[in-house]
Amino acid sequence: MNLTAQTGTSKNAEFGVVTRLKRLLGIDTNQQKYAYAEDPRFGYISESRVADTWTRTTCGYCSVGCGMLIGTRDGEPVAARGNPDHPVNRGKLCPKGLSEHQVLRAPGRATTPMLRRGGRGTPLVPVSWEEALDVMVSRIGALQEAHGTDTLGVIGTGQLLTEEFYTLGKLVQLGFQSRNYDGNTTLCMASAVSGYKLSFGSDGPPGAYADLETADVVLLVGSNIADNHPILCNRLRSNPEQVLIVADPRVTKTAMLADIHLPVKPRSDIALLNGIAHILLRDGMIDRDYVDAHTEGFDDFVSFAADFTLQHVSDVTGLSVETIERVAHLYGNAKAAFIGWTMGVNHSTQGSVTVAAINNLAMLTGNIGRAGASPFSITGQCNAMGTRESGFASSLPGYRKFDSEHDREELAAIWEIPAHRLPTARGLAYPDIIEAAVAKRVTALWFIATNPVVSFPNFKLLQQALTTAEFVVVQDGFFPTPTADYADLVLPAAIWGEKEGTYTNSERRISKVNAFATPPGEARSDFDIFLTLAEKLGVKDVLYPGWSTTHDAWLEWQRVSAGRMCDYSSFTWQQIEENGGMQWGGERLYEDGIFPRENGRALFHCVPCLPFTEQPDSDFGLILNTGRTVEHWHTRTKTGAVPILNNMMPNAWLEMNPVDAERLQFRQHDRVNIVSRRSSVTNVELRITGIVAPGQVFMPFHFAEQNSNQVTLGAFDPISREPNFKQCAVRVERCRYA
Ligand code: SF4
Ligand code: MOS
Repeated sequence: MNLTAQTGTSKNAEFGVVTRLKRLLGIDTNQQKYAYAEDPRFGYISESRVADTWTRTTCGYCSVGCGMLIGTRDGEPVAARGNPDHPVNRGKLCPKGLSEHQVLRAPGRATTPMLRRGGRGTPLVPVSWEEALDVMVSRIGALQEAHGTDTLGVIGTGQLLTEEFYTLGKLVQLGFQSRNYDGNTTLCMASAVSGYKLSFGSDGPPGAYADLETADVVLLVGSNIADNHPILCNRLRSNPEQVLIVADPRVTKTAMLADIHLPVKPRSDIALLNGIAHILLRDGMIDRDYVDAHTEGFDDFVSFAADFTLQHVSDVTGLSVETIERVAHLYGNAKAAFIGWTMGVNHSTQGSVTVAAINNLAMLTGNIGRAGASPFSITGQCNAMGTRESGFASSLPGYRKFDSEHDREELAAIWEIPAHRLPTARGLAYPDIIEAAVAKRVTALWFIATNPVVSFPNFKLLQQALTTAEFVVVQDGFFPTPTADYADLVLPAAIWGEKEGTYTNSERRISKVNAFATPPGEARSDFDIFLTLAEKLGVKDVLYPGWSTTHDAWLEWQRVSAGRMCDYSSFTWQQIEENGGMQWGGERLYEDGIFPRENGRALFHCVPCLPFTEQPDSDFGLILNTGRTVEHWHTRTKTGAVPILNNMMPNAWLEMNPVDAERLQFRQHDRVNIVSRRSSVTNVELRITGIVAPGQVFMPFHFAEQNSNQVTLGAFDPISREPNFKQCAVRVERCRYA
């Protein structure tokens, strides 16, 4: 973990950089040993940034999972570098990774528990941990006594360590005995999970980043990796024959990298995918042996796809017949084809089945389980995968099924508890917990490392839930946050850099995360908070016998996952660290074509292309799309506090096509309000640009001050319960107060 011994020359190496810079600027390095510290041209490199220790760890922002080296000086974080030996990023980092060490000492860290002692309407005041957790246990206990144990709703996150999720799942289900536990991952990639289950019988992205290098066709659907997973862009184009196709309604930075950009109309991706299938079948560009040996539902799918004639698909997508033909032939003739997707697919009321439609193409052509060939969900948060696997939200730990008696008994046996203690069905999903809070069926809410006031759709409904609930706990590394404004109790948590354990990235790579700094003030790790709560509930010895560190949780999680698809049992923390992460399931899944469904076959799904929920009309004539930008992380709790990032992109903006701007008589940089049936976002900078198509507008969703979720829609995928963030009807008005 501590690399000082191996990299004892790091300090000199850093001097080397400074020396080279000084030479470039003509400064005599011998005479002015520390001159750069005072020289304004070196304002950003000072002696205080020369590390004395380097610690290996994994980035805590996105699911790419870059390996990094963090430099500390006298125990304080001073520098971040990409780990040149790490297989994921090979020394590179994006702007967020490069400045990540600055998050730890940023202003606004939560340092002490805070309680609204006098009730709602009174201020949050600092209290001891003892009082904070006693109040938490007694308030939740009283509400559970009155309304039943499921009255507690818990919303976790993709930000914790896998060891912490595992611990939390047991605490909620077996300690607090509530089934109503879900995560912010439902706002992000629940549809990928559901789609994989529909087609293959289990979650688990089949491919690896290496496939981005070997594939001769890479099709990205609704995936702007240049902003959201920047380091993955470095994996493209190693194969000189590779063709990159990007389907996105916007001309994103990723679309600009493409050989072929498919500017599909909003939510027409299903028609495009079915249209490609239609051509593959018509022209015999399928792997019939693979289909016969490893799939079911083919005949039904053939007759279904027959309806997706080229003219129909062209009408729905807005693409020319020639373009659709060309793309289908490129995909069908590829030796190895990769389809990657993110939020353009997942953030939809049809997200799960769109994933199934993607999987259909891979199954038709045998593009699964081979180098370069995968239908691949690129996840969002650094440890979204860890939540999926160690679970209790959409599945029991280790991808076990709630409704399988065998799975429940197996798990109960490992835990030495009666099987009837385990729920036979999942509890409420995130949006349903929120709706239940509005309806007073959930009366206590506990949010952990997530900030729904910014990230949850249709803010007004969320606000009603937060004010109706009788007891709201917010556990976060930062204070204040927009969600903490609604809290009765705030628990200050340690964050990335202050705790040790593992994250799992999009390609199933389990990576080591290390501590190199101490949490500020009285902040404690989420793991410690969970264990202390278990103690107060009197279940510590039953749930966590003899545990004191996250490594204890790791050891039990290894036993729980052993023999399962997501098997963590064969790696030690040390091996994981030394190898730059290890992939569970190996480099890719399904190499044998055997899928975890009863008959071992992947299932074709006939997926209709439905119009999205809220169509534009004469009052609300534009379709709003939302997304992200490279400088920020989700709700800006962290990146908003890092000046180098926040100063690059301090405010939201709205993109509008010149055609619409002219029609509505707007000028570049006008201040505008975005109005929907729900509410409005006010005073946003207008950017008139061809990046968005006529009839559509786009805004980033990171900003509490200009919160796109004031206007977004409370419509959810019926299978995954993921929100439809991507399309709602709005109008844009000039802001009168600007
Ligand atoms: Fe971190 Fe993702 Fe950037 Fe890599 S690409 S440095 S994992 S935020
Ligand atoms: Mo997602 S942001 O992969 O939970």
